[in-house]
Amino acid sequence: MKKIAVINGPNLNLLGQREIGIYGQVSLEDIRRGLEENFRGRCEILFSQSNGEGELVERIQQLLGRVDGIVINAGAYTHTSVAIRDALLAVDLPFVEVHLSNIFAREEFRHRSTLADRAKGVICGFGPAGYRMAVEGLLGMLAD
Ligand code: DQA
Repeated sequence: MKKIAVINGPNLNLLGQREIGIYGQVSLEDIRRGLEENFRGRCEILFSQSNGEGELVERIQQLLGRVDGIVINAGAYTHTSVAIRDALLAVDLPFVEVHLSNIFAREEFRHRSTLADRAKGVICGFGPAGYRMAVEGLLGMLAD
């Protein structure tokens, strides 16, 4: 069975409490549970969250040879982190970038991503459903 790591960056542990008008009321635990249920028997989901850039880099490095692909919502680090980009390129795993909100309909500084040009795909604006779409898309590519 394929293994997909779903990695979440800073402040996503506060989903459901944080800026509800933008991110909604669904918690990160709800998203984790939803993915587990949705993909049971189809792939193994390794779900994690960290607020630290270095910890995210460590986590990505640990995935080398252990998973088939990565879904990543790097939160604010999406817009700033060369280190997370480099880690993703170093492990050379296919990855999909996901955001709950439509980052292109928000502040200018959110329009830029250090990851997007190397991602297999980018999904944003669909809320929690975006995670399911990202895993689905990745599995489809891995099956080819
Ligand atoms: C986010 C969008 C980012 O700009 C923001 O910093 C986040 C969440 C999203 O899922 O919409 O923390 O990645």
